[in-house]
Amino acid sequence: MEDGVQGVAPTSSWQDLLAGIRQAFSTDKVDIDVVKLLLSSYKSKREDWEPYAKFDAHRYTRNLVDEGNGRYNLIILCWGEGHASSIHDHANSHCFMRVMDGSLQEVQYSWPDSSHSGTRPMAELATCDLCTDTVTYINDSVGLHRIQNTSHTDPAVSLHLYSPPITTCHTFEQRTGRAHSCAVSFYSKTGALCSNYSTCSGSTS
Ligand code: SIN
Repeated sequence: MEDGVQGVAPTSSWQDLLAGIRQAFSTDKVDIDVVKLLLSSYKSKREDWEPYAKFDAHRYTRNLVDEGNGRYNLIILCWGEGHASSIHDHANSHCFMRVMDGSLQEVQYSWPDSSHSGTRPMAELATCDLCTDTVTYINDSVGLHRIQNTSHTDPAVSLHLYSPPITTCHTFEQRTGRAHSCAVSFYSKTGALCSNYSTCSGSTS
C-alpha cells in the first residue's frame, strides 16, 4: 500500500480500517484528513459490516462497532425508508461519516441566534445528497445537521465515527430553534442487541 496523508497508509480491508483508525486515535491529536482518508480508502464489503447492521421498523438505529479505547466510537447506523435524525449538535466532538449502502441526505443548519430565544425557524446552510461511499465530516464550528433517508423504497446504512465519544447532545426544533438535551444510546453493541434504546431522533430529557 502507498503512504497516505502524513505517513498513514490508505486502508483497504475492514481489519485495516479498524486498525488504521485505532492508530490514528492513539494520541489526543485528531488529524481530520487522515481519518477521512482511512474511511474513504476502505473497499466496502457488505459481509464486513452487515453483522452490525440491525434495523428497527420505526426509527434509525445506532449499532456500536468499536469503543475505540474511550477515544472514539465507531458506529453503524441503519436507516429504514423515511427515517431521519433530529437536527442536532455534536457536543464538541468530531463527526466523520461514510455511506455504506443506499443514499442519505444531509441538511446543515446554522446555530440558532440566542438573542431570539427559541422563536425563529432555523436557517439552512446547505443540503447534500450523499450516495454510497461518500465520506463527510462535521463539527460544531461548521454547524448543526440532520441526516435523513429520503427514499421510500430503499434502506440505507452509514458508518459514523465520533471523537470523543458522544453520550449526550442537543436536538433543535426546526420551527423555533429551541434546544433540548438528548442522551444517546446503542441499539446493539458488537452485534448483540441492547435494551433502553434512544437516538437523536427526538428523544429528549
Ligand atoms: C447523524 O444524524 O449524524 C446521526 C446521529 C446519531 O449519531 O444518532
